[in-house]
Amino acid sequence: MTTEQFLAGNDLLAWRRRQLLRGGRSVDLDWLLDLGGGVCWSELQRLLLDAEKVVAIDKPLEALEKLWVLHLEQSMPLQHLVGVCPWRDVLLEVSSAALIPRQETELLVELALAFAAGQSPRCWADLGTGSGAVAVSLCRAWPEAEGHAVDLSVDALALAEKNLKALAPEQSCRLHHGSWWVPLRAFWGQLEIVVSNPPYIPRPLIEMLDPVVRDHEPLSALVGGEDGLEAIRSLLMDAPCALAPGGVLFLEHHHDQSESVQDLMREAGLVNVSAANDLEGVARFAQGQRALTSAL
Ligand SMILES: C[S@@+](CC[C@H](N)C(=O)[O-])C[C@H]1O[C@@H](n2cnc3c(N)ncnc32)[C@H](O)[C@@H]1O
Repeated sequence: MTTEQFLAGNDLLAWRRRQLLRGGRSVDLDWLLDLGGGVCWSELQRLLLDAEKVVAIDKPLEALEKLWVLHLEQSMPLQHLVGVCPWRDVLLEVSSAALIPRQETELLVELALAFAAGQSPRCWADLGTGSGAVAVSLCRAWPEAEGHAVDLSVDALALAEKNLKALAPEQSCRLHHGSWWVPLRAFWGQLEIVVSNPPYIPRPLIEMLDPVVRDHEPLSALVGGEDGLEAIRSLLMDAPCALAPGGVLFLEHHHDQSESVQDLMREAGLVNVSAANDLEGVARFAQGQRALTSAL
C-alpha cells in the first residue's frame, strides 16, 4: 500500500547520507528511493541542487530504512524487497520464484524483433521463461501471434502468468510446464522464432557469485551444469526438429561461451549460425536457423 507523504528535501538528503554511512552503493539506495519510495532519480538530482524543496514520497522513510538494512545485512536483492523490476517498457513483478530479469536480456528481445523486421511471426516460443519478461515483451510486440512460454519450474510459471495477465492481458501466450521443447511437441515444425536465456553459469563459479545472486535467486535458473553448457546442449538436441523450416533460435549465454555455443548450434544441424554482442561489446548471444529444406 502506498501512503503519500511530504518531506523537506533537507530531511530526505540527511536520511540518504545516514543510510550510505551504513554501507552499500548510492546507485542502489537511489534505486530503492525510486522504485520503493516513488522519488525518481531526476527529482533527487533537483533536490541536490535545491534542498529547500519539498518532495512527495510514497512510503515512510522508516519503512525504506528497514528494506535497506535487509539488503545490507542479508544481501536481499532490492528487487525482491520492493517486489518489482523495471525491464524494457514494463514494470515486472519479481520474487524468489524466478531469476530477476537482467538488462542484457533486453537485447535478446531486440534480436528477435530485428529478425522479424516489423513482421509478426505466426508462432513463437520463450524457453525457460522465468518471470515471463521476454514473453511479455514478445506478446506486446506481436499481438496477433501465438506465443508459448515454457519452464520447468511451476513457481516461475505462476509468476510468469501473473506478469502476462497484468502486462499483456489481450495477447495470446500459453504457458507450458516441462523441459524445453518437450511440452511444445504439438507445435513442432511451426515455431518460427524461439528465444531462450537458459541457465549457463558453470557450477564451480557459483560460490564466487555475489551473495545477492547466489543466496536469493533460484540455482535452477543459474547453473548450467559443470561447464555451464549442459542446459544449452540439451536444449539444442531437439531444436532442428522443433523449429519451423527457416525458423530461428536465439540463445543468451555466458560471456566466454560464444565459440562453444556456435559450435554446438552447428553440430546440432542449425545453419546461418552467428553471434551478437551485448551493450558492453561482449559476444553474449548466438543465433541459428533450421534450414528451409532439411532432411529431418
Ligand atoms: C536464466 S533463467 C531465465 C529466465 C527469464 N527468461 C529471464 O531471462 O529473465 C533460466 C530459466 O530456465 C528455466 N529452466 C531450467 N531448466 C529448464 C528446462 N529443462 N526446461 C525448461 N526451463 C528450464 C529455469 O527455471 C529458469 O526460469
